[in-house]
Amino acid sequence: MRVLVVGSGAREHAIVLAVAQDPGVTALACAPGNAGTAAVAEQLGLDVGNPEAVAALARGWRADLVVVGPEVPLVAGAADAVRAAGIPCFGPSAAASRIEGSKSFAKDVMARAGVNTASSVVVDNPANLDAALARFTPPYVVKDDGLAAGKGVVVTEDFDAARAHASTLLDGGHPVLLESFLDGPEVSLFCLVDGETVVPLLPAQDFKRVGDDDSGPNTGGMGAYAPLPWASPGLADELVSSVVAPVAAEMVRRGTPFSGLLYAGLVLTAAGPAVIEFNCRFGDPETQIVLALLRTPLARLLLATATGTLADEPPVQWADGAAVTVVVAAEGYPGTPRLGDVIAGADGEGVLHAGTRRRDDGAVVSAGGRVLSVVGTGADLEAARAEAYQRLERVHLAGSHYRTDIALRAVRGEVAVPAPR
Ligand code: AMP
Ligand code: GLY
Repeated sequence: MRVLVVGSGAREHAIVLAVAQDPGVTALACAPGNAGTAAVAEQLGLDVGNPEAVAALARGWRADLVVVGPEVPLVAGAADAVRAAGIPCFGPSAAASRIEGSKSFAKDVMARAGVNTASSVVVDNPANLDAALARFTPPYVVKDDGLAAGKGVVVTEDFDAARAHASTLLDGGHPVLLESFLDGPEVSLFCLVDGETVVPLLPAQDFKRVGDDDSGPNTGGMGAYAPLPWASPGLADELVSSVVAPVAAEMVRRGTPFSGLLYAGLVLTAAGPAVIEFNCRFGDPETQIVLALLRTPLARLLLATATGTLADEPPVQWADGAAVTVVVAAEGYPGTPRLGDVIAGADGEGVLHAGTRRRDDGAVVSAGGRVLSVVGTGADLEAARAEAYQRLERVHLAGSHYRTDIALRAVRGEVAVPAPR
């Protein structure tokens, strides 16, 4: 099987590494890729935002399976174009990708499916903003209704800061979603979904804020770990039956079945799980740790999902132990990152590449906000965490920053679902 992976982040590096180990894979390419994927897969040029270009590349390279990593090509219709070219594609149609592309669409699907989520209002007229905000109590949650790479959300106790963020979005022509605040630990649950068949992967936890102790602005994700030692062993199955399966069934009912990876971002509140968002693709950085623990050949699972035979697959197998990843971000991230700095230690063990490229002189240099995702594994979370941070010590990038507390509270037993009131 010839597999083409579309994207250029650490998520795609992790996918490429896992697919490369699948005995059924005979050729592997990544487009446009980065300096890390180039060491494992053929590197092909691609404008990922252009669905016809994705399909043409897949045809020209004679792909048997295309795996689309990021949301932007999916929302633009890359999977539709690849399937129209007669090639199986892991990734939902543009119509099904709206579950991520429009938060108000996702809210509508959840309401119809009876899935618990934060209460919300959409504001598209600045004249209605103050009255809408007044309906909420602090902390305020203000979101861009469309795609914003995880950076369109402000959660704040401060009414004026909430209003300022909403005004900036509205001034830019973006409808704003105001939400009630959900209190409790967050969980990222990835599910392979093929119509009404839902297969959960390991629940993981992501760290969205840029700084230690969840300080500073939101980012695309600064680190992650799995499994969740504080969660009940039945959590994934419980979330499939209360959240993901009803949503998958509702997408089928609407005539836009979901095929690919449906990612539920949830908060486990005192009143039960509530959805923050859905994504239509693997999450970054959670993929780096979930795939580090996966034992079932990945390409086979993705092909089964893409061809509608997921229900026939045997149960997914996992390694014992735990995995932790820590993201190394460029100076300035999540604002404007400084680019072009030489990275030392970029080819170290467990170092996955995100925003990197190889310069003509052979040096690996930074080329994005999130630059590397360093992964450690171990018999338990503490050992995995120790390995990730040891590996990180061998990496050097001028001006870069990372969180020092990824998985720390879980190791210390400080994470818990709030008790019902
Ligand atoms: P989103 O882009 O919707 O995933 O939001 C990014 C991050 O903001 C989430 O991972 C949460 O940490 C936080 N967040 C978003 N919505 C809420 C909410 N309703 N209550 C509490 N935290 C939230
Ligand atoms: N880890 C958050 C995301 O992929 O959206």
